[in-house]
Amino acid sequence: MRMSELAPASLRASKRSVAAQRPAQVASSLLPQLGFTGKTAEMRPGLRSILGVDTLEPSQQTYFQGQEDSVRSIARISAMSAAFAVTLSAAAAMPAFNELRLIETSAALAKLFQASLPDEVNALGEPNQSPVQMLVQRRVLDELARLVHAHTGRCGGFIDVTDESVSTLARARAALKRKAPASFPDLAARREDVVRALDQIESANIEAFVRAYSGNFSTRHASSAEGEQAPKWLAAQWKKMADDAGRTDIRVELVDPPRGYRQNSVRITIPGRDVMLPAVVLGGHLDSINHKDGSLAPGVDDDGSGISALTEIYRVMLAGGFRPKAEVRIFGYAAEELGLFGSRAIAERYSRENAKVRAVFQLDMVAYPGQSRTLTFIDDHVNTELTTWTEQLYGLYVGGPVRHDSCGYACSDHASWDRYGFPAVFPFEASDSEMNPRLHSTKDLWDEYLDAEFAARFAKLGYAFAAVLADE
Ligand code: BES
Ligand code: ZN
Repeated sequence: MRMSELAPASLRASKRSVAAQRPAQVASSLLPQLGFTGKTAEMRPGLRSILGVDTLEPSQQTYFQGQEDSVRSIARISAMSAAFAVTLSAAAAMPAFNELRLIETSAALAKLFQASLPDEVNALGEPNQSPVQMLVQRRVLDELARLVHAHTGRCGGFIDVTDESVSTLARARAALKRKAPASFPDLAARREDVVRALDQIESANIEAFVRAYSGNFSTRHASSAEGEQAPKWLAAQWKKMADDAGRTDIRVELVDPPRGYRQNSVRITIPGRDVMLPAVVLGGHLDSINHKDGSLAPGVDDDGSGISALTEIYRVMLAGGFRPKAEVRIFGYAAEELGLFGSRAIAERYSRENAKVRAVFQLDMVAYPGQSRTLTFIDDHVNTELTTWTEQLYGLYVGGPVRHDSCGYACSDHASWDRYGFPAVFPFEASDSEMNPRLHSTKDLWDEYLDAEFAARFAKLGYAFAAVLADE
């Protein structure tokens, strides 16, 4: 039986009954739903190898004997809107299951993965409809990343969603479905207070801050010792700025690291005068990575530039005594480069707690102007109305050429928010064809190819975004 043929009701029934049954019974009721029919030998060859069932011999029952505890937490099986997913991360004591990961990717890449590693990956649900969930062997994750790179010239392409609980996934799906067309304030005339504040944005500050930030750490890789220090340094800087401005109402806090990591995200909270209003969120990722030429990862453009532009927005807010009607939050996200982990944990929590967010603004790579110096709105994993509105905002307050492009995958933290149904927008420095060639290498330094004036345009846009949305 293929998993895609399973009825949701039977999956739910099996989940309810797992804890109550004896291990041997669990084996016989659960395994068929994972694609086992009768003896292990009758399993589809792909699944057999994915599940590592050779370790289950001689019989399923023996394998499950004495595994009652892990059986309890075995598999959270649930029906998801169109597809069915099986998450197996909790099955720590079960070698076969522990080596499985659940990933989410596009239909095109799912096809590529299936064709290249038929024995190690298995699509769940409808494989022609993005996103596709796949059960894969943990050991082939690097190989999948390599395949994506070889075929698309890009990294990423899939995210590991094993640790997201099924209820969370279900909620995310629901949120995405219910995504009502959002509406944003009328942009007829410029506001004088905003225009005055934008004049205070200084490109030189953006360059200086990113030099200091990247100069302090040889890498900000989320799993490195230095990468653990980076958010602490950033939080100290941001805290000092609030202190120096006498803003005891502003909180700067370390956010717990995403599961499996030790790198914190950082959060600035500028309280709103009206606590009932939904918050406005700005953010960028604080980590860096080297995929090309060693372990040094200065990450100046990616994404020191975004962190630095956010810092300049925040500086101008402090200088002008910004006290918005709605709460404004500024995030430095952890572990983006390893799979959007920091932002996903944050968006997941907001969703779980039913937090209200008006709009999310992502800054990731804002200093490399390419040949055409054109601000590029990314069109996938974002909210279309918010993107149109932000483009108008840019025309009104900043001005300059814009265009649209897409990443083709969940390429930065905006996608985490979008995943949980929060409206997000992602203005980016260049189109795909003019991509910064120093990305993810030791050469992502401040050099003649970077342009602080160009980065300042993004900072101005971010300030206007926060001011207009939070102080309508
Ligand atoms: N800054 C990049 C994302 C990016 C690159 C956006 C080029 C638009 C154009 C980001 O930090 C990154 O590298 N993301 C990963 C994906 C992530 C899920 C690991 C990527 O693009 O490979
Ligand atoms: Zn980035």
